[in-house]
Amino acid sequence: MQALARARGLIAAGARGFGSSSALRQQQQQQLARAGLVVGMFSSQKLAAADAAGLSDAQQRAVVARAQALGFAGKAGQVQTVLSDDLAQQIALVGLGAEDAADAAGTTVSEIVRTAVANGVRQLRAAKVESIAIAPVPHLQAAAEGAALALHAFDAFKSAHGRADADAPDAAERAPPAEAQLLGPGSDAWATGRVYAAAQNLARELTATPANHMTPTEFARRAEAELAGLAGVQVRVHDRAWAEAQRMGGLLTVARGSDEPLRFVEIVYRGRAEPGPAADADLALVGKGITFDTGGYNLKPGRHMDLMKGDMGGGAAVVAATRAIAQLRLPLNVATVVPLCENMISGRAAKVSDVYTSRAGLTVEIMNTDAEGRLVLADALHYVIEAHRPRAVVDVATLTGAMMAALGERYTGVFTPSPSLWAAVAAAGHATDEPVWRMPLHDVWDAMLKSQVADLSNIGCRAEAGACTAAAFLRQFVHGPRLAPPAVPRDQNCDDDARPRWAHMDIAGPMEAAAEAGYHRKGMSGRPTRLLIELARGLAGGNE
Ligand code: BES
Ligand code: MN
Ligand code: ZN
Repeated sequence: MQALARARGLIAAGARGFGSSSALRQQQQQQLARAGLVVGMFSSQKLAAADAAGLSDAQQRAVVARAQALGFAGKAGQVQTVLSDDLAQQIALVGLGAEDAADAAGTTVSEIVRTAVANGVRQLRAAKVESIAIAPVPHLQAAAEGAALALHAFDAFKSAHGRADADAPDAAERAPPAEAQLLGPGSDAWATGRVYAAAQNLARELTATPANHMTPTEFARRAEAELAGLAGVQVRVHDRAWAEAQRMGGLLTVARGSDEPLRFVEIVYRGRAEPGPAADADLALVGKGITFDTGGYNLKPGRHMDLMKGDMGGGAAVVAATRAIAQLRLPLNVATVVPLCENMISGRAAKVSDVYTSRAGLTVEIMNTDAEGRLVLADALHYVIEAHRPRAVVDVATLTGAMMAALGERYTGVFTPSPSLWAAVAAAGHATDEPVWRMPLHDVWDAMLKSQVADLSNIGCRAEAGACTAAAFLRQFVHGPRLAPPAVPRDQNCDDDARPRWAHMDIAGPMEAAAEAGYHRKGMSGRPTRLLIELARGLAGGNE
């Protein structure tokens, strides 16, 4: 109580003068106010929630005045933490920008909210609060996403010795809050946002887990566990004998170099009420599942090889998105497959110039053992199209360093011969702020995949357009071989024929976030999980 009185005095002094006691005042605040509250404010100086969490009008005015004195104006991206009058709460005011703002190129109103709430949550976490509440803001789905994504922590592999706050005296009692609560009545949008974010957080965790833990076997076990019990969901985990029966030459050849057994995860979700044959998938998702990529005999340089524990990031994203699709009971059928193995060196590993026969029957000469992702994806794509007859197929893969060089971290490169699927993917990317950029497919890159001894080489004959030749390789297994150069250029639009629409997403750039920013945590990003959920939602809703 004495401490409380002293703190009141200090804070009053600080509020009058913002003087030399401010550091001490800060310290006192942290010790006293263990409850955190995020409140949105527009640049019109209006608070987003009129009754902001039970604060009286006078209290609200005091809080706003205090924040304004510190330079806070409600601009998008701004955040300012102040103490409530009764010293019970740390209030993070977050800027929402103009009240009547509309979506514009490069930014959306929901992204402003996502980032604002994330910034507030991060400030409160840094202030070591024990609980975080969010006062209602517009776009509650985005708010829930921002909060849950910002609170994600990956510390499963830190013992008490290694934790950053290990020697803080109250470290044990000040464990950061694991989640944020919405104040006021429940909300479907908030609940939906939590499902989206939890899925991305699952993808982050699977991708960040070291490869000696996240083996193909463990990934498959986690996929089963994470989807267990969801209505309409069936998970099957296949082994090498199955892959042999399926003649998956690509998966078998890559997996041979490793002592870890391969796995092939197959998830079927049936959410469509009718019409149409119930067995067919409206959407097939295929994720690259290389749990570690050394490069094989075309060994990767040591620098950044650690990143290759995340070479199953595509697989993680499609499994996580499928969980969310089932949790949200979206009315469509989805088939999700992930070919899983390691790309290693051993007496049984593929050698450069080895030839294998793919599931599609095309023979492939391995001219670079580091171009392994396309080999396992080719078999998985061919399988899912034959087994599930999907109307649309999307594969997600950390496929090429060239894609990362071209677009960097922010954008995912998307290759598709379907204008309508492109439009659906782009719309989903816009809504979730997981931006995409359309990349070209063209006959010239088919021609560069010629092999002297087999039907195809697994790399382009020239060191250029590496992301494009990788996409061209995959296309051979989706819409049939394109081996002979055409006399006249082929139509690159597949919307008007019976073949499934296909899109390939190369996420080599976005797989990792280089820095903390808003709800982006440094490390494995779990992207583009939310985009995939949103895409399924769009397809289920019939907006293509
Ligand atoms: N998994 C890598 C691609 C990658 C590199 C993803 C860096 C994320 C960050 C892929 O298997 C690979 O090694 N691709 C090769 C292809 C090349 C040999 C044609 C590459 O990009 O160098
Ligand atoms: Mn590789
Ligand atoms: Zn790889």
